[in-house]
Amino acid sequence: MNDIESFDTVRTVGDLRLWSATIDLAAPTLSAEQMMQQDSQLPGIVVQHQGQLVALLSRRLLFQQLSRPMGREIFLKRPVSEMLDAMDRTPLVLRHDMPIATAVEVALSRDARMVYEPVLVETPGQSRRVLAIDLLLRVQSVLLDMAMQAKNRLLDEVQRTAGELRTALDELGKARDHLVHSEKMVALGQLVAGIAHEINTPIGVALTAATHLAERTTTFNTLFTAGQMKRSDLQSYVGLATQSTELLRFNIQRAAQLIQSFKQVAVDQASEQRRSFDLGQYLEQLVTSLRPEGRKLGHNIGLSCPPGIAMNAYPGALAQALSNLISNALVHAYPEDVRGEIRLIVRSEGNHVVIDVEDDGQGIPAEHLSRIYDPFFTTRRGSGGSGLGLHIVYNIVTEKLHGSITCRSAPGQGSVFTITMPQTVAE
Ligand SMILES: Nc1ncnc2c1ncn2[C@@H]1O[C@H](COP(=O)(O)OP(=O)(O)OP(=O)(O)O)[C@@H](O)[C@H]1O
Ligand SMILES: [Mg+2]
Repeated sequence: MNDIESFDTVRTVGDLRLWSATIDLAAPTLSAEQMMQQDSQLPGIVVQHQGQLVALLSRRLLFQQLSRPMGREIFLKRPVSEMLDAMDRTPLVLRHDMPIATAVEVALSRDARMVYEPVLVETPGQSRRVLAIDLLLRVQSVLLDMAMQAKNRLLDEVQRTAGELRTALDELGKARDHLVHSEKMVALGQLVAGIAHEINTPIGVALTAATHLAERTTTFNTLFTAGQMKRSDLQSYVGLATQSTELLRFNIQRAAQLIQSFKQVAVDQASEQRRSFDLGQYLEQLVTSLRPEGRKLGHNIGLSCPPGIAMNAYPGALAQALSNLISNALVHAYPEDVRGEIRLIVRSEGNHVVIDVEDDGQGIPAEHLSRIYDPFFTTRRGSGGSGLGLHIVYNIVTEKLHGSITCRSAPGQGSVFTITMPQTVAE
């Protein structure tokens, strides 16, 4: 049956091949047989009486009757009306705009004996056409097949697009890693340049002092071996040597300090093993060790931490970060002879801990706030500040402890540094 060339346009029963064959109830059965023979595919004939639908005479039922013993003798010479018993008196009538799937459903829900009978389709011109049920079923199965194929094509397409997206995302990830890496290299370069610059001063002073001392020692030696040394020569040499060694000691110590801080910047503590510890107990120890330093300056250091917060992290790194924050409060927050209250306040939030380090000191001006974590930013350059303390804290918190740090501060309002970190730090 190649009565449908392309299934792409088939939506409703009206799109299928329909037969128009009508016969009057009074017409001889012979003419019905002739109609069937003229078109070997004609599925059935609409039987009418005075323009009204009476029944549907299907090819199957007509030939069934005619092939009975004596069937042809009985029926062929009589009118079609004699065959009423062999007809579908209540044929199924479908609207032409009924979707194929609905038509199939309706047709198959008929009485089991009628399931193979053709059905009628009411077309817009009020005329009734005959539709072969097997064509309807075949079209439905082809359409299902097409829908399935379309779905599979779509699925393939979606999978392919997802694959492409994944690849693009991978590329993006690599590009980002590369950027972060080069950004880190730039930051590291700046840091190294800064360190070199910082260390240059004390080393330079020490070198000048050492050179001067060496020159004076040579002169002193010459006078001594020539036996020309006066008492005043000895006095001035001893004075210079004392001064120079003091200068050397001070500056070399300063350089050593800077190198020490630089080592910490690298957040090297790789040697430290991650371990389990009780946060409250550990902080109690830490605060106890820092209190004497605070008391010397007239400040109190308090701790409030709920008991039983179990951590699995790097206690040494955490202690280093908190010590830096507390020592900053001791050094920067209070003018002389102001008594301060520094507090560590801990709370647990889901599987994270939040640690506030707060002081009631003079606070940090807005224009400094955005720079406090920059390496070498310090307001105490002349008096021992290197400006690496908060940079180290930032690195420890973000890289080692996988947390974050924020600072809230305003002049006259004190400062609060808040560290948020997971209780269990990933390896
Ligand atoms: N609690 C605080 N109160 C007021 N100012 C602060 C406080 N903490 C930090 N600061 C400001 O932030 C600056 C940077 O701090 P950071 O710890 O990085 O360096 P530093 O303390 O000056 O030097 P270092 O820690 O290397 O000895 C300080 O110089 C100070 O101006
Ligand atoms: Mg500091």
